Amino acid sequence: MLIDIIAGARPNFVKIAPIVHVLKARAAEGGPLRHRLVHTGQHYDAQMSGVFFEQLGIDSPDVNLEAGSGTHAEQTASIMTKYEALLLNDPCQMTLVVGDVTSTMACAITAQKLHIPVAHVEAGIRSGDWKMPEEINRLVTDAVTNWFFTTTEYAGETLRASGITEDRIFFVGNTMIDTLVHNMDRLIQPAFFADKELTGGNYLVATLHRPSNVDAGFKLAETLGAIARGARGLPVVFPVHPRTAKTLSDIDLPDNIVLVDPQPYLEFNWLVKNCKAVVTDSGGITEEATVMGIPCMTLRTTTERPETVDIGTNELIGDDLDALAHAFDRLFESLWKTGQIPKKWDGHTAPRIVTALEKLLA
Ligand code: UD1
Repeated sequence: MLIDIIAGARPNFVKIAPIVHVLKARAAEGGPLRHRLVHTGQHYDAQMSGVFFEQLGIDSPDVNLEAGSGTHAEQTASIMTKYEALLLNDPCQMTLVVGDVTSTMACAITAQKLHIPVAHVEAGIRSGDWKMPEEINRLVTDAVTNWFFTTTEYAGETLRASGITEDRIFFVGNTMIDTLVHNMDRLIQPAFFADKELTGGNYLVATLHRPSNVDAGFKLAETLGAIARGARGLPVVFPVHPRTAKTLSDIDLPDNIVLVDPQPYLEFNWLVKNCKAVVTDSGGITEEATVMGIPCMTLRTTTERPETVDIGTNELIGDDLDALAHAFDRLFESLWKTGQIPKKWDGHTAPRIVTALEKLLA
């Protein structure tokens, strides 16, 4: 039984790592499943892709579709065309997609149109915001998914409310947290940390890459100005996503914003684990901050991960910069909530997924 594991963009690599490790280990013990790792090429830079494979011990992809960048329609079409050619030439028995990036949606549609069943890991989460490309990807992917692997009970409720029957939903937990748990003792202090005279607990981490936050220069400048003021002079380490870099070149930055390249996995999570707080528009980072108990301010009005707010350390600040200033007041007055870890975010999600797949494909 051959399963295609699809990975295209940075957060996908973190989510597939524990699944491919378990698949490989079970195959070595004589288990029934084989896998083919398909990289779509959505992210192709060494910093956005290669270093994640190296650090997380993922074998080189069996196939690279080399779809590259483009508009959403161009990228989707390119991935679909190339993945269809692969499946026609050399079909698999199931396609497993993770997360909510364009590669996730494109490969799910392609497989299902060729009558190959689709499994979706991180199914059922919804922000309700159709202006986010990821929300469209989630909706479309789940519309053509056979087997839904969920990170939370809330995601399962969303799926049941949309008519998905119980036997197709598997509440397994969070593979991104498997990766974090397995690597917690391997995290690496980045080389720049000492050079820039940073010290543990006395800096913030900021990441911004959503089109709504970074594509307009004035908005990005205002936001970074508010973060720099809120930090009260503490350094703000800001790893710059390629999309953000394009806008950033025209902006005068406050002195305490410390620009660094996109960080490898082990360095990035070391920075989060040792910082005072995170300011972000990412979804995955809110989950990692929750597990590490680090205060997290999310610069979005919605989240598809409400458990990070209800249970974890995350707070939705929206796009009101006064609200951000108040959030910083609470942080510096030591009034930030202490969170808990959501159910089944325990480092054992990938074995649950592979056991379910073995039964489904038996
Ligand atoms: C994608 C995902 C987003 C995820 C993010 C993580 C979608 C719709 N969005 O957004 O959910 O949080 O990845 O990083 O799938 N680029 C490079 N080098 C690369 C890859 C991209 O320079 O290796 C450039 C592209 O040319 C493009 C820009 O970065 O201009 C954005 O890349 P793209 O893959 O379209 O989306 P992301 O913004 O990275």
